[in-house]
Amino acid sequence: MGKSYSIAVIPGDGTGPEVTAEAVKVLKAAAKKFGFKVDLTEFDFGGERYKRTGETLPDSAVAELRKFDSILLGAIGHPDVAPGILEKGILLKARFELDQYINLRPVKLYPGVETPLKNKGPEDIDFVVVRENTGDAYTGTGGFTMKGTPNEVAVQSAVYSRFQVDRCLKYAFEYARRHGKKARGRGDKNTLALSGKTNVLTYIYDLWERAFHEMGKAEYPEIKREYYHVDATCMWFVKNPEWFDVIVTGNMFGDIITDLGAMIQGGMGIAAGGNINPEGVSMFEPIGGSAPKYTGKGVINPLAAICAGGMMLETLGEEKAAGAIEQAVMFVTANKLESLQAGRMGYSTSQVGDLVAEKAAE
Ligand code: IPM
Ligand code: MN
Repeated sequence: MGKSYSIAVIPGDGTGPEVTAEAVKVLKAAAKKFGFKVDLTEFDFGGERYKRTGETLPDSAVAELRKFDSILLGAIGHPDVAPGILEKGILLKARFELDQYINLRPVKLYPGVETPLKNKGPEDIDFVVVRENTGDAYTGTGGFTMKGTPNEVAVQSAVYSRFQVDRCLKYAFEYARRHGKKARGRGDKNTLALSGKTNVLTYIYDLWERAFHEMGKAEYPEIKREYYHVDATCMWFVKNPEWFDVIVTGNMFGDIITDLGAMIQGGMGIAAGGNINPEGVSMFEPIGGSAPKYTGKGVINPLAAICAGGMMLETLGEEKAAGAIEQAVMFVTANKLESLQAGRMGYSTSQVGDLVAEKAAE
């Protein structure tokens, strides 16, 4: 028997538990087939626990999570809890405390999946966003003065340090070198594009741009460097997605452009991401929300959670198993599902999990 990986599972809210169960099913099938073990420990952080105890993600839990090889997260967000409490208290707290400074979000159109982009297919939509995951307006300070009066002022600053920018760029360049289009046999060069806003955010993205070119020139001369303003990035995602290979950007722009990316790859049912600390504990999640209206109906699409599990295995070094999961997902999208939308798949949530698990174990 090969290695054993200790994995913390946080199913979370809404449809999170349903999709997480399918991701776990597929992880177990892949583990069995490829000769390793997954040792799972479940945690109940989420809206229900918050309502019961007032606790989001206590410091003791963060300390405990540090001991795992990886974390699988379902979804966070509860209709009875005010926006921000669970997101900041659980999801963002885990990202920041565990210093998961990369948010890796592949945008890949699988065969058989419908994209809203006319005349674009799987050969056109195949890129990866490396979103910085610890800085920007997410952690900049802010506050109100004269709150509630007509003179009220609100300030929220976007902050980046050279250290944060450099470590993110290094990851992105390394990623482009190993997984860019040339590395994948899909072109004659690997390209890293910086998405920023150097015409308005003349401090933050000036720093990013200088750091980008300095590092690229000195350490990654073979990687082609491109720059796009973030608004233009959105435009080209829709018009010419085939231009993109690996994209690196700050936290806020990364949040926004990856929702657009998710839509062009077929929707939130398929979009997965990894909150990665290359030197520590990473956390993988479907990037969509908890979709409370579908809770318990068995109609939600588990493929995003399953793909998140695949990304987890890739990061743990189980590349073959990760590849088998991706191939199995592609088989299912190409040959089985009628649609990726909740309730329209032609199969239930657990049947989709079964289909992928069976194929991955072949
Ligand atoms: C995401 C989400 C989160 C973010 C929210 C829920 C805090 O939108 O993972 O993209 O903004 O990062
Ligand atoms: Mn988002």
